[in-house]
Amino acid sequence: MKSLVVEHPGLLVLADRGVPEPGPGEVRLRVERAGICGSDVHILHGSNAFARYPRVIGHEFYGRVDAVGDGVAVAAGTRAVVDPVISCGHCYPCSVGRPNVCVELQVLGVHRDGGFSEFCLVPAANLHVIPDCITDEQAPLIEPFSVAANITDHTGVFDQDVALVYGAGAIGLTIVQVLKYVHGVKTVIVTDRIDERLVAAQANGADRVINTAHRGLADALAADGIRPTLVIDAACHPAILGEAIEIASPAARIGMMGFSTDPCTIIQQKITSKELSIHSSRLNSHKFAKVIDWVASGRLHPERLITHRFPVADFEAAFDAFEHHPTECCKVLLSF
Ligand code: NAI
Ligand code: MN
Ligand code: ZN
Repeated sequence: MKSLVVEHPGLLVLADRGVPEPGPGEVRLRVERAGICGSDVHILHGSNAFARYPRVIGHEFYGRVDAVGDGVAVAAGTRAVVDPVISCGHCYPCSVGRPNVCVELQVLGVHRDGGFSEFCLVPAANLHVIPDCITDEQAPLIEPFSVAANITDHTGVFDQDVALVYGAGAIGLTIVQVLKYVHGVKTVIVTDRIDERLVAAQANGADRVINTAHRGLADALAADGIRPTLVIDAACHPAILGEAIEIASPAARIGMMGFSTDPCTIIQQKITSKELSIHSSRLNSHKFAKVIDWVASGRLHPERLITHRFPVADFEAAFDAFEHHPTECCKVLLSF
C-alpha cells in the first residue's frame, strides 16, 4: 500500500508498505480522502514535540471499513471517520471526560501512524459511522470542526455574544461556522492580516472582518465602540493573549488554542478586574458525534473550506500549495 511517511524531519516520501492486519478491537480502514493540517507540516519540519519518526502523518481522514479484528462487528464497506484521540480510559483526565489530555494520550498521525495511507488501522472505539448525506469531501473536515466544537464548549456561547475570532485559517473558519451556524451568534468579527482569508471568513459566516496588517485591532474596535464578549485565538501568536485581555468586555471569555513555547506577558490586574475567563482547548473530547449531526443536518458547510484537491501521488504539489500559498489555499484534500 502507498503511505505518506515523514522518514525524519524534512523528508516526506510516498512509501510502499505492507497492508497491516487488524488486531483484536481494531478496524482496518480503506482511506479515501484526507485533509492536510498545519500540524502535519509541523511534523514534517520537526517542530512538533510529540512526533516520533518515521511517521505516517494525517489525522483528518475518511474511508470505508475494509477488515475488522476479533471482537469488532462493523460491516465491510461502512463509511466512517476516525477520532484521532486515543486515550487510556482510566487516568484522571479520562475519568472526567477529557481523553484529549489523557496522561497517555496517543494521537493518530502524531504519536502513531495516521491516515495518509491507503489503509490505516484504528481502534474500533475511535470509529464514527457517517450517514450517506455526508459527502466524501465533507467527511475529513469533521476532525477540524471537532476542534471548533471543543473550544466553543469550553468557553460557552451565548447568542447575544459579540464574538471576535483571531485568524481566518482553517481552524478560525471552523470556529466561525460553529459560532454563526450552530449557536446563532449575532455578531461574529474575524481579524487576520490577509485580505483573501478575510473574504473566506465572510463566506463562512463572519459578519464583519478587520485586517490588522495596516491598522491596530484595538483602534479599529474602539472606533466602533466594540467590546467583544467572546474572543477566540485561532491565530496563536504569543502576543495575542495580552491584546485579547485588553480589548475584551468585562465578564468576557477568552479561548486559546496555541502551542507556542515562547513566553508572553499578561497582567493579573487586567484579567481579574474584568473577571475574565480564559479557557484552553486541545483537539477534542467526544465531539465527533455532535459534529456529524451538525454536518448531516446541513447546519455546517465543511465544503466551503476546501480549496485544493490532489491525488496522493501529487503530494509534493499538495504540500507546496498548503505551505506556500496562503492567499488562495485553505483546506487541501488528498485522495487515496
Ligand atoms: P493557519 O496558519 O492556516 O491560520 C492562522 C491565521 O492567522 C492565518 O490566516 C494568519 O494570517 C493569521 N494570523 C497570524 N497572526 C495573526 C495576528 N496577529 N492577528 C490576526 N491574524 C493573524 O492555521 P490553522 O490551521 O487555521 O491553525 C491555527 C492555529 O490553531 C495554529 O497555531 C495551530 O497550531 C492551532 N491549532 C490548535 C489546535 C488545538 O486543538 N488547540 C488544533 C488545530 C490547530
Ligand atoms: Mn488538524
Ligand atoms: Zn487517560
